[in-house]
Amino acid sequence: MSKILVAGGAGYIGSHTVKELRKQGFDVVVFDNLSTGRREFVRDAELIVGDLEVKDDIRSAFKSQNIAAVLHFASLIQVSESYIHPRKYYTQNLTSSLNLLDEMLEAGVRNFIFSSSAAVYGIPKQIPIPEDHPLDPFNPYGQTKFFVERILQDYDRAYKLKFISLRYFNASGADPDGEMGECHDPETHLIPNILLSVLGRKENLDIFGTDFPTPDGTAIRDYIHVTDLANAHVLALQKLMASPRSEFINLGTNRGYSVKEVIARAEKITGKKVPVREMPKREGDVPVLLASKDKAERLLGWKLRNSEIETIIETAWRWHRK
Ligand SMILES: NC(=O)c1ccc[n+]([C@@H]2O[C@H](COP(=O)([O-])OP(=O)(O)OC[C@H]3O[C@@H](n4cnc5c(N)ncnc54)[C@H](O)[C@@H]3O)[C@@H](O)[C@H]2O)c1
Repeated sequence: MSKILVAGGAGYIGSHTVKELRKQGFDVVVFDNLSTGRREFVRDAELIVGDLEVKDDIRSAFKSQNIAAVLHFASLIQVSESYIHPRKYYTQNLTSSLNLLDEMLEAGVRNFIFSSSAAVYGIPKQIPIPEDHPLDPFNPYGQTKFFVERILQDYDRAYKLKFISLRYFNASGADPDGEMGECHDPETHLIPNILLSVLGRKENLDIFGTDFPTPDGTAIRDYIHVTDLANAHVLALQKLMASPRSEFINLGTNRGYSVKEVIARAEKITGKKVPVREMPKREGDVPVLLASKDKAERLLGWKLRNSEIETIIETAWRWHRK
C-alpha cells in the first residue's frame, strides 16, 4: 500500500495531523530531523530521521518507500527571529522546500500539501481575509511562505505538480487525549505563554500593544484548534488525490478574540491570575487578522469542531499541566 510522507510530522501541527491521517486509514511515514519536533509525538508511526537540507536523506526515503503524496510542515517558524536572521530563514525554508519538491519530481510523486500562513497577506485591506486578497508579506518568515507558493505555481505549470497550500491563522490548543501539545522553544504564541506564566514557568505574560484601534486596545486574532487544522489536511489530501487541482485555502474561524479577552477566558479556566506586563507594539503587528473560511467549507466540506476558544484553552491547559 502506498504511503503519505509527512515532513515535519514530529512537530506541533504535523504530529496532530499524523494522528488524524492514521485514524482515517492512511499509512503514514514521518520524515523529521527532530530539531524542534519530538520523537514521542510520532507515537508508533513510522519515523525516518532525516534532514530536508540533505538531498540524499530525502532521496533514500523516497527509494525505500512507496509514496503517494507529501505533506510539508517542516520549517523555521518564528517571525521575530526571521527579522534578525533573514539569511537563516531564506536559506533553510527555501532550500528544504526546493529539495523536497525536487526529490518528489524525481520519484514521480505529484501530490503536495503545504503549510502556508496568514503571513503571506501582509497588512489586511479587507477583513475577513479571502484567498484572493493581495499578497504582500512584510516579514522574512512570511516571504519564505510566499516564495514557496510561487514556486508551487510554476511547478504546477511546468511539471503538473498538484498542490494545496493551506494558509493557517493562529494554530492553538492540544490533542484532546493529551498525547501531544504545543511546546515551541522559545515559545512565542499567546495561549501557551499565558499558561506557562500561570504555571510560574515564565515570569510575565507580555502584551505587545495596548493602543490598537480595537475595543480594548489589544490585537485581535483568529485562533484555530490544531485538531481542526489536522482534519482539514486530511480533507485536502482526499480532495487532491480524488481530483488533482491546485488551490490556496485559508484555515481559520472568521471569529476573533483580543489578547485581553483570551487572558480573561484563561483566568476563568485555570482559576489563576495571569501576571501581565504591558509592552510596546512589535514591528509589523496589525490590529485585526481574521480568515474567511468560506472556501475551506465549500471546497473541502470542512467543519469546525474544536475551535471554541474555551475548548482551545482547556485542551492546551490539560497538556501544559501534564
Ligand atoms: N504554529 C502556528 O501557529 C503556525 C501558523 C501558520 C503556519 N504554520 C506553519 O506550520 C508548520 C508547522 O508549524 P509547527 O508549529 O508545527 O512547528 P514545529 O516547529 O512544531 O514543527 C516543525 C517540524 O519540522 C521539523 N523540521 C524543521 N526543519 C527540518 C528539516 N530541515 N528537516 C526535517 N525536519 C525539519 C522539526 O523538527 C519539527 O518537527 C510550519 O511550516 C509553520 O510555518 C504554523
